[in-house]
Amino acid sequence: MSSITRQVGIGTFKASARTRELLAAVLDSGRISYGQFSKELEARFSDLHGCAFGVLSNSGTSSLQVALQALKETHGWQDGDEVIVPAVTFVATANIVLHNRMRPVFVDVDPRYYELDPQKIEAAITPKTRAIIPVHLFGLPCEMEEISDIAKRYGLRVIEDSCETMFVDYASRPVGAWGDIGCFSFYVAHLLTAGVGGIGITNNPDLAAKMRSLVNHGRDGIYISIDDDAIGGDRLKEVVAKRFRFESIGHSFRITELEAAVALSQLDDYKTMIASRQSNATYLTRRLREHERNGRMQLPSIRPKAGHAFMMYPIVLLNESKWALCQFLEASGIETREMLPLINQPVYQHLVRESDYPVAEWINRCGFYVGCHQDLCLKDLDHIADTIDTYFNGVQI
Ligand SMILES: Cc1ncc(COP(=O)(O)O)c(C=O)c1O
Repeated sequence: MSSITRQVGIGTFKASARTRELLAAVLDSGRISYGQFSKELEARFSDLHGCAFGVLSNSGTSSLQVALQALKETHGWQDGDEVIVPAVTFVATANIVLHNRMRPVFVDVDPRYYELDPQKIEAAITPKTRAIIPVHLFGLPCEMEEISDIAKRYGLRVIEDSCETMFVDYASRPVGAWGDIGCFSFYVAHLLTAGVGGIGITNNPDLAAKMRSLVNHGRDGIYISIDDDAIGGDRLKEVVAKRFRFESIGHSFRITELEAAVALSQLDDYKTMIASRQSNATYLTRRLREHERNGRMQLPSIRPKAGHAFMMYPIVLLNESKWALCQFLEASGIETREMLPLINQPVYQHLVRESDYPVAEWINRCGFYVGCHQDLCLKDLDHIADTIDTYFNGVQI
């Protein structure tokens, strides 16, 4: 069997001099549990996204899970209450609803931007609906004005799943600052890449405290890290007495200083990183435009009033299934991923019928993405476009 050398991947990670410096500082400090780097990452990341509080966890999924649990406990929601999620998203968005013993209610996405369609939300609301989880996919913010307006009218809470989108605004407000809580991921191939990691941000101090407790086994907030007993007097007595007091059924979802240092080391460069992804996407769109004009594929669009962080470059074919083209790209060393199939997955088939969601069904059949990250060069981008030209035309346009 011959092997293919992958030339163009979806994601990238390069340890900079700053990454090495911060990691060395962690190792030299002898402190790898939640400490100064985690605190700095929480403060700077949440501030950049217009929120006062940030709570780190070991994944975007964990952050989403404790975000929903924090709201469920705070508002006294019942098992079986409903949460609206888009029919196209990574499986974790719906999984965390089930992990919280609530019911995901799927709403189709719109055919231009592939995100929760505000026109279809109201029909899915029932007396049991408690929350909406809009998902900012591929780097593009959802239509948050309309979604927030619906949530307000029906008294619903909003958790933004922003695991694929950072550092961009919708209507001059950053992603993550629209809902009650916004959740982000630092997993491999994401915009900030720490290996693993997630963060939930909010402007509500009580929700922040609750999430922090839930990430730490549901502990009393008086003792969350080993700094909390580095005090004296009566306060120390109280901390010692409550160090093993648990208030919720929580989780062991903590991150270490090592991941925090890796993520933090990338924070200074986020503007260059996003700008380079945007210019790569613009270049790909220019090179592939002819195929869109010929009715073969739909290229990504940027919603009015929104930025786009281009975590990836989504393409949906118009006249054929994605598989032959994806195989052709893969055989040419270009990584592809399916555009987040969810409702056709074996594990969800008993809960939902794909044919009730025509846009999701089309995306599941015809949608895929390729990379457009900051470490791709012009030759890589040309290789993607040339390979697609060859697939459709046999020759370059
Ligand atoms: C939309 C979306 N939500 C949630 C997640 C989960 O993030 P993590 O892998 O950090 O758990 C991802 C990760 O790929 C994602 O794309």
